[in-house]
Amino acid sequence: MKYWLRLSIFLVFYLILIYQVFEIYHPDDIVPLIEISSLGDTHTISFNTKSNTCIYTNPSDSYQTWSSQFFQHNRKKHYFTVQDPTLGPEPSTLHYPLISSIESEFTNSLINTSYIQSGFNLPINENNPGQYFWWLYPEQIRISWTESENQMRVTWVTFLEYSQRLAYRPILCDEIVNNTDWAFLEANISVFDVGEDLIRLQYIHDAVISGLNSGCSYEYFVGSTCFWSNVYSFRGRTPYVTVNESNADKHVSMIVIGDWGAGIIGTYSKTLLEDDIANRHYDGVLHLGDFAYDLNGREGRQGDDWLNMVQGISSKLPYMTVPGNHEKFYNMSHYSNRFKMPKNDANEGKGWFYSFNFGPVHFIMFNTEQYFLDFQQDCILTHKNWLINDLKQANLTRDEIPWIILLTHHSFYCSVPKIECLKQADVLKADLEDLLNDYKVDIVFQAHVHNYERDASIYKEKVQGVINDHYYIEPTAPVYVINGNAGNYHGHNDPFPSVCPEFFIFGSQDYGYGRLNVKNRTHIYYEQFSAEQMTEIDYFWLIKHRLG
Ligand SMILES: *[C@@H]1O[C@H](CO)[C@@H](O)[C@H](O)[C@H]1NC(C)=O
Ligand SMILES: *[C@@H]1O[C@H](CO)[C@@H](O)[C@H](O)[C@H]1NC(C)=O
Ligand SMILES: *[C@@H]1O[C@H](CO)[C@@H](O)[C@H](O)[C@H]1NC(C)=O
Ligand SMILES: *[C@@H]1O[C@H](CO)[C@@H](O)[C@H](O)[C@H]1NC(C)=O
Ligand SMILES: *[C@@H]1O[C@H](CO)[C@@H](O)[C@H](O)[C@H]1NC(C)=O
Repeated sequence: MKYWLRLSIFLVFYLILIYQVFEIYHPDDIVPLIEISSLGDTHTISFNTKSNTCIYTNPSDSYQTWSSQFFQHNRKKHYFTVQDPTLGPEPSTLHYPLISSIESEFTNSLINTSYIQSGFNLPINENNPGQYFWWLYPEQIRISWTESENQMRVTWVTFLEYSQRLAYRPILCDEIVNNTDWAFLEANISVFDVGEDLIRLQYIHDAVISGLNSGCSYEYFVGSTCFWSNVYSFRGRTPYVTVNESNADKHVSMIVIGDWGAGIIGTYSKTLLEDDIANRHYDGVLHLGDFAYDLNGREGRQGDDWLNMVQGISSKLPYMTVPGNHEKFYNMSHYSNRFKMPKNDANEGKGWFYSFNFGPVHFIMFNTEQYFLDFQQDCILTHKNWLINDLKQANLTRDEIPWIILLTHHSFYCSVPKIECLKQADVLKADLEDLLNDYKVDIVFQAHVHNYERDASIYKEKVQGVINDHYYIEPTAPVYVINGNAGNYHGHNDPFPSVCPEFFIFGSQDYGYGRLNVKNRTHIYYEQFSAEQMTEIDYFWLIKHRLG
């Protein structure tokens, strides 16, 4: 074949290839998006969203509202004028100037809509189509249990304020149910400014589905007008308040995880967990503090990124949390506003501490930060009194709900020779260890130290009973486990000493998380997974027949 012929065939293929790559990288869902036209008195806005096309004729006030809301974002919170007398009087309109880097981005982002009488100008950044358009899409979607039985809370965020709905319906019920139509709930809105120097208003929406049937799963999606989320699903089984043999006899499977950041290190556990929940059954996730590093970082974007990173997990499994030391910013305001956990008489609806019954387990999610923050010292007693009362109540139903598992961020026992395992652990032990021991708490899961460490059943620094490798048989004191290494941001920074204390049984620095399997009223099986090796690295059985 002639050289030129081969060359042109090659070029044609090459161009087709480039064209296809171009197409792949410009899928419909990120190509805009919005067309504005005007015919006489009729103005039309057409949105091409990722799910459908919506056409608005003579757009209503909401677009005006969105565009004016946009101007509330990204401004400096504090404006200090330095008056330069040569410049004359300060311009009266610019009381809160945009910081310069954002200003140019902002100016470029405005589309020229001067030909529309109504002055519509929902900002679209032409260089990065969709950047602001997405401010109308629900993000950071997650579910959590409430203080009542048969309920599920769905929480999500938009960056512009507009009313949102939750749609849900039962699926896969293990009996015939009458109504499987979609039902709609109006969501509550609360506004939270996640910025520190900048105003970054976040509209947190939440809606609570009631009357769940534990024999069904549920599909749901959230959003409004043109802007809806994908459809997600969860199982209808929830914690219970009314103690009943049929509830207390069921198997429980929870993910136990702690200290999880948004960076590259955090993606190890995310990848394994997504595979795990796609293939095996879990009831929920228990996250023992330290989120995103930190929720308030980069004007709150760090928290947004992390909550979006875990959405594949938190939209399907109830995501239950306690705060860690990294949540201390502004008296834990990011934690308190972003995570809505079960309310109780003592926690002011803040979700710092609460408990719930699931299967044969009474789970206690306990905050320990007040011991180490000067500005929370006055909370120590509130927390402790609540814990005493909670244990007292749990002790009344111990025959039906035999296991008590306490989860917290700071640790009581660990082997790394640093302040967290020495002085700070001593503070917790001095105030709480007797209580946990008296009420025969079965397991204490802790985080904060960036590793996995499994210890013996311990009381007052002494191993109780005989260490039997993977078996704890009728232990008399709590078993202590550290699970603080989902992947923070430091890397492997908590190596074990060459000689560990007598109570140490197994340790690993691999990023990962655990699977708590409560088989029944007498047997607990726990496994630890390495997200680096993608497999199990430790397990134990806890067996108690509670004979007398
Ligand atoms: C919505 O807010 C109202 C008033 O604050 C409150 O009574 C109601 O319980 C909230 N609903 C949900 C689902 O949180
Ligand atoms: C216990 O729960 C089951 C299933 O939810 C229910 O059918 C039964 O009536 C309950 N029993 C009592 C005593 O409440
Ligand atoms: C922090 O929040 C707690 C719980 O709401 C409250 O009791 C305490 O007074 C707050 N402390 C400060 C310094 O705002
Ligand atoms: C828990 O309840 C049992 C049985 O009623 C009782 O013997 C025990 O003293 C209680 N524990 C505490 C710490 O009160
Ligand atoms: C509890 O679970 C263990 C482990 O799966 C099993 O060997 C035992 O028979 C179970 N006990 C009851 C009462 O089902």
